[in-house]
Amino acid sequence: MSEKITVSLIKADVGSIAGHSRPHPKMMEVASLAMSKGVKDGLLLDYYVTRCGDDMELLMTHRNGENHKGVHEIAWNAFMDAAQEAKKMHLYAAGQDLLSDAFSGNVRGQGPGAAEMEFVERPTEPMLIFMADKCGPAAYSLPIAKIFMDPFTTTGLVIDPRAHLGYDIEVVDVIDHKKVIMSSPAEMYDILALIGDTTRFAVKRVLHRDIGIAAVVSTEKLNISAGKYVGKDDPVMMVRCQSGLPAVGEALQPFAFPQLVSGWMRGSHYGAWYPCAVDESDPTYHDGPPRVCSLGLQISNGKIQGIEPPNSPPGNHKPLDYFAGKEWDPVRNKAMEISIYMRGHGPFMPGIVSPEELEYTTRPDVLKKIESRMEPL
Ligand code: 13P
Ligand code: 13P
Ligand code: MG
Ligand code: MG
Repeated sequence: MSEKITVSLIKADVGSIAGHSRPHPKMMEVASLAMSKGVKDGLLLDYYVTRCGDDMELLMTHRNGENHKGVHEIAWNAFMDAAQEAKKMHLYAAGQDLLSDAFSGNVRGQGPGAAEMEFVERPTEPMLIFMADKCGPAAYSLPIAKIFMDPFTTTGLVIDPRAHLGYDIEVVDVIDHKKVIMSSPAEMYDILALIGDTTRFAVKRVLHRDIGIAAVVSTEKLNISAGKYVGKDDPVMMVRCQSGLPAVGEALQPFAFPQLVSGWMRGSHYGAWYPCAVDESDPTYHDGPPRVCSLGLQISNGKIQGIEPPNSPPGNHKPLDYFAGKEWDPVRNKAMEISIYMRGHGPFMPGIVSPEELEYTTRPDVLKKIESRMEPL
């Protein structure tokens, strides 16, 4: 048992209604039951079950550190139980992200995505969780660059002595299956030279030099498929906020730019990232547009505190749903306008992703079929 608190956000798509839309409430219910068993067994302190589009998200707090076998097993069992319900109802893609029938000690490499951070809880510990659907983890690279490296976004980098130190950024290279920690602002241009290539690099972690972990992103599928890019795993991110870390508003502001992210329909298109409430995260236009949700909460003595009464039972939480408000309507309208425009390209690039990134392709078959008719120019 550690003094430190671990927050684990583990997610998977284990089935949905009418295509890749949303999990059935019964699936959420059985996942919550599996989580509550984790609390009864003493492995978890608290939990919250939510979703983004068709992805189920399990937020857990505990004192067992990252990659803990028991904690990962609770998440695995919750997903298995939910998949079982989905199978009973013949829902679409039941068990989609569970790549094996049996748990092997860690969810990483088995299909689900995980973002975990261990830290000594500050006197007040505000946190944002971000959950995305229909895109890959490199989608968070641009907002991370703005939040932690751009003083025109985060004024705190300039005026808060604690933020003025800068941050260390851990970058994952998908192709060579390697990672590197780089220092911002000293190496800012070098960092951007890498992470601007969202087909090869993604940010995994951001570290404050005094406070420790500041942000973490789930990058699982990128890791297991090293050498080949298969990255539309609908990633999550956690960001600790305030008091030397970015203010909540600084962490949310980059999402007002509806950047183009790869994913969307068949994991093979570019669409504008659409910030919305959890309840609005069903993919309603061309299996999208790619969505991002943001929930705000406090970690209090290892428990989750939202706007529910203090000391509410584990699991019964009401985090703030930051993208629910009408303030985000102009961004959503712009995202729709851009997404409709991108669809105008049909199967042409840049409406679709590059050939290496396509999740479906007929190109090898077509090339084979016409092989004998190919002539030198
Ligand atoms: P902190 O001093 O806790 O970082 O608060 C700053 C703030 O919230 C300004 O928006
Ligand atoms: P998900 O990755 O959200 O399951 O979506 C897959 C897809 O093909 C959507 O068109
Ligand atoms: Mg799906
Ligand atoms: Mg999904």
